[in-house]
Parts: sequence; C-alpha cells; structure tokens
Amino acid sequence: MSRSAHPAGPRHADVLPEGHYTAPPTDLNALDPKVWAGTVTRNEDGVVSVGGIEVSRLAEEFGTPAYFLDEADFRARCRAWAAAFGKDADVFYAGKAFLSRAIVRWLKEEGLNLDVCSGGELATALAAGMPAERIAFHGNNKSVEEIERAVEAGVGRIVLDSFQEIVRVAHIAQRAGKRQRVQIRVTVGVEAHTHEFIATAHEDQKFGIALAGGQAAEAVRRALKLDGLELIGIHSHIGSQIFDMAGFEVSARRVVQLLAEVRDEHGVELPEIDLGGGLGIAYTSEDDPREPHEIAKSLTEIVTRECEAAGLRPPRISVEPGRAIVGPTAFTLYEVGTVKPLEGLRTYVSVDGGMSDNIRTALYDAEYSVALVSRTSEAAPMLSRVVGKHCESGDIVVKDAFLPADLAPGDLIAVPATGAYCRSMASNYNHALRPPVVAVADGDARVIVRRETEEDLLRLDVG
Ligand code: LLP
Repeated sequence: MSRSAHPAGPRHADVLPEGHYTAPPTDLNALDPKVWAGTVTRNEDGVVSVGGIEVSRLAEEFGTPAYFLDEADFRARCRAWAAAFGKDADVFYAGKAFLSRAIVRWLKEEGLNLDVCSGGELATALAAGMPAERIAFHGNNKSVEEIERAVEAGVGRIVLDSFQEIVRVAHIAQRAGKRQRVQIRVTVGVEAHTHEFIATAHEDQKFGIALAGGQAAEAVRRALKLDGLELIGIHSHIGSQIFDMAGFEVSARRVVQLLAEVRDEHGVELPEIDLGGGLGIAYTSEDDPREPHEIAKSLTEIVTRECEAAGLRPPRISVEPGRAIVGPTAFTLYEVGTVKPLEGLRTYVSVDGGMSDNIRTALYDAEYSVALVSRTSEAAPMLSRVVGKHCESGDIVVKDAFLPADLAPGDLIAVPATGAYCRSMASNYNHALRPPVVAVADGDARVIVRRETEEDLLRLDVG
C-alpha cells in the first residue's frame, strides 16, 4: 500500500495509533483534483458541488447513499483515451467497472468500443444500441447460450479463454453459418504489482492459456485449423490498479514473441494484439497515475520496437481500460448517522451505506479518501474510520482518514473515485437497497440507475 504506517504508540490522544495514513492534511476543506471528478468544486458557501449542483440539493432530491457521476468528466476521459491511441488502435471500455445504458450511449458517441464479460453486460450493450461489431466478449466460462447470443448478434470478437472454448465457439459459429472473429487470451507469466485477487497474468490462476510450455502456441494451432474461427490476434490482461508500466512491457514483448512464432510456424501474421486494461487511478493523494497519452506512447513504442526486432509488421493494438475511465468520475455521497470517538484510537463514523455499496475496502484492503462536503469546518483533524450500517465489523468504507472533529450526525460526507467496481459489485447484504447512480452535467442531474426498493427485493422472493 502506498501510505506509510505509523508505529503503534502509547494510547494518548496526541499519539496516532497504527494505520495506513500520512500526517493530517493541512487543509481538511481542500479537494485534491487528483481524486475528485473534473467538475467537483467547493462553492463560496462551503458546500461542494458537481456539474454545477450542490450536494445538499442532490441529497435532498435523490437521497443518500447515492453515486453521483460527472458526465462531462466521463466523456472527457473517453475522448482522452481515444485521442491518445489514435486511429490505428482501438479502445474498449471494460464494462465490468460500471455499465448502464447511458454509459453505453456515451461510449458510442465518444467513439469507444466495449468489452463485456457476461450475457447481462452483452444484453445491456445491445439494448442501448452499441453496434455489435464494436463489442468484445470475454469470460473464462461463457455458457453455450451466451456464446450463441454473441455469435448471432455478430460481436466483433470473442476472446477465447480455454482449449474447450476454442472448440465450443468454432462449433457454434459453424452451426450458425458464420466465421467468428476471435482472439486467444494468454497468460504471460507476469506478476503485476497489485492485490493477488486482481492480478491475472501469473500462471497459477483461472484465466487464459499459458505461454509457458507451448500451451498458447498449441491453442493457436488448433484455432487456425477450425473453419468457424477467424483468429485475429492475441490478448493479454495482466491485472488491475497497476501504476508500473514494466509489467505491460514484459507482456507486450512475450505476446509479440508468440506472434513471431506463429509467423514462423504457419506463415500467418496475426493482425491484432490486445494488452488488456488495468491502469491505476488515484484513490488518495499518494497515488500518481499516468495519463492516457503517456500510456499510449509507451505501449506503442514497446510493441513497435519488439516487432521491428522480430521482423513483424506492427499489429493493431487494443486496450481495455475500465477503472481508468469511470473510476475517477463518481463519488459516493453518504449521510453521517453516528459518531463514536474512542479515546487514543480513532473515531468511528457510521454512514447510511457500507460494504453493500463499496466492497473494495473489505475485499482488497483498498484505500479511499473522504471529505465533509455539506459545509466547511475549521475544527481540528480527527483520525476517523468510516464504517457502514451492516452487521459485520469488517464493514469499512474508509479505513483511515482525517475528518474534522466537529463532524456530527446529519453532515454529508463523500468518498471520491467510486465510479469503478462499486455499483457494479454492490450487493443486497442485509437486504440493503442498492443506491442509485445519478449523472450530473451542466446543472442537470438525471438518474441513470435507480435506487432499489423493498418491492424490488420482494419481487425476487417468490416463496
Ligand atoms: N480487460 C479484462 C480482460 C479484464 O479482466 C479487466 C478487469 C479489464 C479489462 C479492466 O480492468 P481495469 O482497467 O478496470 O483495471 N474488482 C476489482 C477489479 C477486477 C478487474 C477484473 N478485470 C477491483 O475492484 O479492483
């Protein structure tokens, strides 16, 4: 984790207990633009606004907890990624980070493609009018029905994840009288520097076919023989929330090596490579993510260099950022319910959501920032832990953060950078009602995913 741990000391109020935090910020009212969405500002009256609307008004109209998504920021990030990679590469937004019909429409308008990894995501993409040829279909265990639907819709590519799937997709395509464009997902044997559960390119895991031991070369051999498949390239995704480009460098080099082997063995130059997603974002001021143009430049240079060395025509590159596009564009707004100071330890701040709207802290020990947004405060910084309302002591939203010491029930606090993997991983634990996603732009706020209701819960409960 990026922040330094303070040593545990005697339990006096002036000695900070152990935890992952830096010294208290000098100004608790400041909003670091690194972690807050583009149009978020604190107005003269001290209230924070997004897209020109104050959070107090948003809370009144839409309730809390709720995710507020800055549409202008989302669109700007799409444009930045598209421009960075240019017309000779393709950007596929990874829908697993967060997907809804509005998102699909924005992607379509901004010229991005879409990576889906389930029948549900595919249905959402098609329902919102994403042209099928701009969709990539992923997953390590796609069902026959899902593959049939993808082939029938005419998705631009299916990413094959196993030997069984090579045959399965070929068979389904052939039966439908089609030749399906496919890529083969390989595991390149890179340990990306990230949490174990979100690193995906080391070999001891469920995704992809290993380059090691000639497995991937064998997969290519089999795919090239099947009439139902048009093998267009190789895919590699090394993990998530990665800052260091070294892993991508090794991955690109190994994928290009495979392309060279394929050319030598089959006389075929596969025209595409996909380097996956995984680019990190700033959750706290300590994180320093790279800009899309730097990422594009560095990936393109690596691939070009490796291809030159291997005497290959450089393939068309694609990437699949999810978090880096949607993550920074939203924050979760909560109302403070209770404040419980523990002398010499920290203050527990309970909010009206929790692990049901953000499981990442409990699951990955993820770090977040938090700020009081309904007013300013000149009170001293108070070491706080923001917790939810679930029946579980691990129900933590922000593990260690400073909030003003006069924080009180009724205050609104917001956790930035919750656009990715929060609503999409939300649950109904304790029969919580999943919060809405509200898109805000130019003084206009619009629900794009509505809040769940008790009727929604009871509708599924048919017993
Ligand atoms: N492409 C493939 C094949 C993927 O498996 C993923 C993410 C992405 C692209 C997008 O990665 P991104 O750019 O969003 O990092 N729930 C975890 C993240 C799981 C990522 C799974 N695959 C989290 O909350 O950190």
